[in-house]
Amino acid sequence: MSVLFFMDSGLGGIPYLDRVRKSRPADTYIYLADRVGFPYGDKSSEFLIHRLNHIAAGIIDLYNPDLMVLACNTASVTALGELRKNFDTPFVGVVPAVKPAAELKSSGTIGVLATDRTVAGEYLKSLISDFAAGHSVETLGAPDLVDFVENTLYRADDDMIFKILKPYVDHLVRNGWTTVVLGCTHFILLKPWLQKFLPQGVGIVDSTEGVGKRILDLLGDKNSDPNPGKGVFHITGTDYNTESYRHTAMMLDLEFSRLEDL
Ligand code: DGL
Repeated sequence: MSVLFFMDSGLGGIPYLDRVRKSRPADTYIYLADRVGFPYGDKSSEFLIHRLNHIAAGIIDLYNPDLMVLACNTASVTALGELRKNFDTPFVGVVPAVKPAAELKSSGTIGVLATDRTVAGEYLKSLISDFAAGHSVETLGAPDLVDFVENTLYRADDDMIFKILKPYVDHLVRNGWTTVVLGCTHFILLKPWLQKFLPQGVGIVDSTEGVGKRILDLLGDKNSDPNPGKGVFHITGTDYNTESYRHTAMMLDLEFSRLEDL
């Protein structure tokens, strides 16, 4: 049985945990929403590298996981290299799925929705020039969507979700995007509504399947024990409403707990 750790600035890493747990239900799953650092998209590289090193050290002390998944594009493109240098535990990161998007047959513009930090960083620019040269690619920061997913989505109805998505849907239509890359893990939680509100024929690409497969490959043989393993949902910090997190933990059958020292 393995101990698997997933983290994000908030709720964005949940689809990755969910994907892996479907195939390996008996493992132990530890999730961390770093509310102290949230949102990562407006933080400096220095802050993120320092913060993520601090969290990794704390989690290794507490759980000694077999694998640590940085289920956050902003964190991965900024700090994954440093973390791999500083710790022996294997890390898996996530990056905007530009390569799979460029491999699709459809012509037209690929639009990458991400955080401002990911959009401004060199990593995304290299991904585009390495894997999507010859394609028309646009990038767009969407910090209000991150905030919405984190704090409001759990209690939102379709109208509220449509209202927050509308400017992005309009932008996409105006600019002729035919493929949207969800380059921030938070946006994956909006996928069912994007599928509903986007014009027909616009493809949505994210990294859940690809990263999930990579994690499963690294872990080796399928875990065949049908009894569910332990699951914990941690948040850092104290000074905010925890309803959204408690709700998510309950939906996923994870035990909710604060990690105040991180
Ligand atoms: N979910 C994160 C990502 O994939 C970052 C969101 C944020 O904290 O700004 O980039």
